Amino acid sequence: MRVLVTGARGKVGRATVAALQEAGHDVRATDLAPPVYERPVEGEADYFQADLTDAGDAFAVVRGAEAVVHAAAIPEPTRNPPHVVFQNNLMSTFNVLEAAVRFGAARFVNISSETVPGFFFPERPFLPDYAPVDEEHPIRPQDPYATAKYFGELLMDGAIRRSDIRCISIRPSWVQHEGNYERNLGPLVRDPSELSEGLWSYIDVYDLADAIVLATASDLPGHEVFYIASPDNAGGRPFEAAVREHYGDEIEIRTPLPREDASGISIEKARRMLGYDPKRSWRDYLDEEGRLKPGVKGLFG
Ligand SMILES: NC(=O)c1ccc[n+]([C@@H]2O[C@H](COP(=O)([O-])OP(=O)(O)OC[C@H]3O[C@@H](n4cnc5c(N)ncnc54)[C@H](O)[C@@H]3O)[C@@H](O)[C@H]2O)c1
Repeated sequence: MRVLVTGARGKVGRATVAALQEAGHDVRATDLAPPVYERPVEGEADYFQADLTDAGDAFAVVRGAEAVVHAAAIPEPTRNPPHVVFQNNLMSTFNVLEAAVRFGAARFVNISSETVPGFFFPERPFLPDYAPVDEEHPIRPQDPYATAKYFGELLMDGAIRRSDIRCISIRPSWVQHEGNYERNLGPLVRDPSELSEGLWSYIDVYDLADAIVLATASDLPGHEVFYIASPDNAGGRPFEAAVREHYGDEIEIRTPLPREDASGISIEKARRMLGYDPKRSWRDYLDEEGRLKPGVKGLFG
């Protein structure tokens, strides 16, 4: 398929372009960054510069795509003004989806976020109702990032009502690769008392890219939402005991857990409906002290 990947210079976009090419798709990459005006490197995906908050840019770059993977966004709400996060992320999604509908693209893969239920960046903190969190969990966003991601999912619902496009929203957990595992997860591995909003969940970027390839090729009708996480938690805590220790009875634990060191996020729906089968773990990258193992190489280092 001819697949457009937005946000292609970012973490998720880069890994997705590589995985889609590996799977044999004809990939066009787009991002805010300027192109390199030189002879293309053999095998390199075609690159087009576009600011997707501009509808003209979005229509210019989406034209001709049979499938769109929309990964472009400001990836969290704490380092930009709220209105910038909200308008950049929501209008980019609106414009890219609008162009995909008007040009008759068959498949839209919307990279949403694990933050949609609202407990990652709230001004008035609250806990998940239950864990592992799944797609049925109530949605109560307070911040501009999670709210825009939720509205993005609602845009997908609208698109399938008014056209034949098929949509999948992926809610990735915290994205890790060889260049940031140590920085991000090292402290959680070293210190069992360290907490994280996602109940120690994370996603390996290469497993996420594999899930996105599955979603791109999927013939699922309508709009489906899938959490994508690595199956274990950072540090390999016994999940039930760790939640009890830190949160008492405030979070209901839904048993049976898929494994003792389960993630705080359930990936059962993605396993069942997408055939998602994650292969990697933080243990492939970090030692027991949370330090990067020697010789680990990939797209990011
Ligand atoms: N990193 C995470 O832990 C995480 C977790 C859940 C969801 N996500 C989502 O995954 C997607 C990719 O995130 P990432 O981690 O690769 O972030 P990233 O910052 O590495 O990449 C995002 C890319 O989007 C581009 N972009 C932003 N606004 C744009 C615009 N208006 N027009 C064109 N391009 C634009 C940026 O230039 C950047 O290259 C985002 O939608 C993010 O919200 C990320």
